[in-house]
Amino acid sequence: MRVLLVCLGNICRSPMAEGVLRHLAHERGIAIETDSAGTGDYHVGEAPDRRAQAAMHRQGIDISDLRARQFTAADFDRFDLLFAMDADNLRNMIRLAPSQAHAAKAVLIMDHAPANSMREVPDPYYGGDEGFDVVYDMLVEACTNLLADVQR
Ligand code: 4NP
Repeated sequence: MRVLLVCLGNICRSPMAEGVLRHLAHERGIAIETDSAGTGDYHVGEAPDRRAQAAMHRQGIDISDLRARQFTAADFDRFDLLFAMDADNLRNMIRLAPSQAHAAKAVLIMDHAPANSMREVPDPYYGGDEGFDVVYDMLVEACTNLLADVQR
């Protein structure tokens, strides 16, 4: 099972999502491959935003190894499941899909957290540190359910 997490810059939300997912998968002994990408190219090659790294570090999770890259159409072939952090990014991903079947593999990550009223993971880039903790909590909820679904 190969899972791709996607946001805009690939320095805040999607590397946090990748860090949460690989951490929870490892804890549960679930073998999945994870990666993340951004629909934009502004931060290609960069490590996660220091505030994202700090928020993850507060939870005991290290994401300092991750590097930003841009999402491409080939990702639809390389991954089984593709999760967008928000509707804008989902739209921009689907625009690149080679077919309807490819496009159907991409959904909002919060589709796995139906109990949460927030359907999109808010972009924390222009806010304060607390936004990153909100993102973390949302991602734990979604990724916990996602892994339970994968195990079924
Ligand atoms: P991300 O956050 O999509 O969660 O990585 C952002 C990072 C950078 C920018 C926007 C959002 N930016 O415009 O540079």
